[in-house]
Amino acid sequence: MKAAIINQYGDSNELSVVDDYVNPTITNNQVLIKTYATSVNPIDYKARQGALKSMFNWQFPVVLGWDIAGIVVEIGDDVTDFTVGDRVFARPDMDDTGAFGSYATLMAVNADKVALMPETMSFAEAAALPLAGETALQMLNELHVTAGSKVLIQAGAGGVGIVAIQLAKVLGATVATTAGPENATFVRHLGADIVIDYHQKAITDVISQYDAVLDSVGDIDAGLAVLAHGGRIVTISAKPTPEQLAVATDNDQTLLAGWLQPNGQDLAKLAAYYQNDALKIVIDSKFPFTTAGVRAAHERIESHHARGKVVIEMVAE
Ligand SMILES: NC(=O)c1ccc[n+]([C@@H]2O[C@H](COP(=O)([O-])OP(=O)(O)OC[C@H]3O[C@@H](n4cnc5c(N)ncnc54)[C@H](OP(=O)(O)O)[C@@H]3O)[C@@H](O)[C@H]2O)c1
Repeated sequence: MKAAIINQYGDSNELSVVDDYVNPTITNNQVLIKTYATSVNPIDYKARQGALKSMFNWQFPVVLGWDIAGIVVEIGDDVTDFTVGDRVFARPDMDDTGAFGSYATLMAVNADKVALMPETMSFAEAAALPLAGETALQMLNELHVTAGSKVLIQAGAGGVGIVAIQLAKVLGATVATTAGPENATFVRHLGADIVIDYHQKAITDVISQYDAVLDSVGDIDAGLAVLAHGGRIVTISAKPTPEQLAVATDNDQTLLAGWLQPNGQDLAKLAAYYQNDALKIVIDSKFPFTTAGVRAAHERIESHHARGKVVIEMVAE
């Protein structure tokens, strides 16, 4: 099969697409998906640079990628929820060997991570949703966001922020978000009530006494400063320090490091929001599945200013 591999950690030039990579085989509880599209998340470039070295004993060549949309071409003996020909998407589990990611034309995926795509969803949209969308959904749950909550969602124009703003509005929350000036109107259209231009203002100058903060930029101190007593903050891009945890405890606040737990049920919930027009999927850019395309996709996400998701198409629609 075709796959984008890296043979060592480094910059985007380490990525190359090869035609003769070994095909994956499925276990009883997996489906084999013919990939139509994948998307690039910040974890992809961090992994490419070697940030996950201490967590996994990957052997080169490594195939990155943790979002997939495509068609089921084979099912394991114990799989009952899917059938050959289904249009599906998933945030697959990490492969401990590093050999099989979604930057490939075939991927074996545990069936409990898979959901059916809504009929009206394109493969590019479907590839853009699982990792960022499941993260947004699960972190809002961790934050106990409900009707009337005041929640700060950092980086509103990013992959996670775009979904989080929309879901928080569905839940009935008041949403403040941070964005550059060129994204202010965009995040307002998604539903944000208060938009803070982080280039011009500190969030502490604009909001206070918030119930919840989703920190996706690693600014835990500012998040704690705008939280009310008893408020909750989840960071998805930093490790809380002992000092920050102590500040939270002193103020009866809950400070958590959040990690996505991928699962097909949450993805099916997101699919239902999409079908009910409560959730828009925003694609920043699409790249072809070529060496130049995959490298450019990584460079786009590494700019930290993609508006929405960066998608790689194996099959152009
Ligand atoms: N722990 C987990 O399970 C988990 C899961 C998913 C993601 N993450 C992490 O969460 C972070 C965000 O992920 P993502 O996919 O949303 O990233 P992303 O799509 O790459 O975010 C890009 C957006 O960030 C905005 N931005 C950049 N710097 C900013 C700042 N200082 N303040 C506010 N906005 C800023 C940019 O908007 P402007 O152009 O307007 O500045 C841009 O639209 C990453 O670090 C990622 O690794 C963790």
